[in-house]
This record gives sequence, structure tokens and C-alpha cells, in this order.
Amino acid sequence: MTTVAPARIAVLISGRGSNMQALAAAQGDAYRIVLVASDRPDAAGLAWAREQGLPTFALSPKGIGKPAYEAEVDRALREAGAERIALAGYMRLLSDAFVARWRGRIINIHPSLLPKYKGLDTHARAIAAGDPVAGCSVHVVTEELDAGTVLGRAEVPIHPDDTADTLAARVLAAEHRLYPTVLKEFVRT
Ligand code: GRF
Repeated sequence: MTTVAPARIAVLISGRGSNMQALAAAQGDAYRIVLVASDRPDAAGLAWAREQGLPTFALSPKGIGKPAYEAEVDRALREAGAERIALAGYMRLLSDAFVARWRGRIINIHPSLLPKYKGLDTHARAIAAGDPVAGCSVHVVTEELDAGTVLGRAEVPIHPDDTADTLAARVLAAEHRLYPTVLKEFVRT
């Protein structure tokens, strides 16, 4: 029997990092998190990752510019031996050059049923449209925002008394179930 080593995953975050925590909880034979990187050194998720003993990298692009910032991130990813990247609440657009370097190896979780509601304020837009369901999607990252191949989706109901916040909480719980499941499938491809 041949055994396949776990895929080496870097997770990029900007804030709370609850999806990163869900990915960390599910790591094992399929994948291991080899780096948690953030563009915000004060990101709450980064502190959590450090407490867990996960390798971390933090650098703000402020003052150094995007090309230098991304070059440093790329260097940290390669030093960590990352094979693929999972964006988890990473609030910056990656440059075309960065996406090209990691073509087909970056995925993202987005809080809508793509192709609906790309970009921000997804929950308020779904409620305003009178949609009966909302949800989340995991997709391959390409140069175009939230437009790459969708690898998995999860639906939740929208209740009549929902606000953007109550809906966001319901969707977030679905995100935490969906993202590890899709990542495990993605690393096998
Ligand atoms: C999630 O809703 C995710 O879908 C979106 O940003 C949010 C990040 O939350 N891209 P967290 O940092 O994972 O808690």
C-alpha cells in the first residue's frame, strides 16, 4: 500500500479567523496547515494560531507597497513548503502575478451562493432581493473577483425576521462545515 503525505496548506487571513480554526480542527491525513499568514499583524486569528503552535507569518503592506509585500508573502509560503493556499477571510485582492504563480492552487470561501453576490455585503443583498435561501461557496481563485470554478456550496434558509447579522451567523456555521470538506477533496485533485 502506498501512503500519500498530507498536502501542505497555507491559510491566509485578515481577521477573526474562524474558518482557519475550522480548517485547523479538520487537519490530519488529507492536509496539514504549514503556515497561517496575515496582512494584519493584529488579526485575532493570528494570535489564536500562535497559541496553537501553528507557524505564523504577519506583514502589513502599508509602507512597502503591494509588489514587495506579495514577494515577502510568496517567500514565506515557499519557505514553509506550502503546496496550496486557502484564503479564509483574507481581505486583500491578490495581484494577477501572484495568482499566476499559484495558478489553480488557491481556493477561497465566499459567503454567498456564487455566482450570486460576488464582492461585499452578500447577506444584506440576499435579504433585500427576497431570496428564500443563502449560503456559501468555495471556489478556485482566479484574476477575476469571486469568479473561479465553484468546488462546493452549502445552502441555509433565510428567515423572514433575519438581519444581515443573524443570516451571517447561520451562513458562517455552514462555512465551517463546508470549507474543510472541500479542501480535503481539493487536495486529492
Ligand atoms: C467569512 O464569512 C468568509 O466567507 C469571508 O470572510 C469571512 C471571514 O470570517 N470571506 P473568518 O475570519 O473566517 O471568521
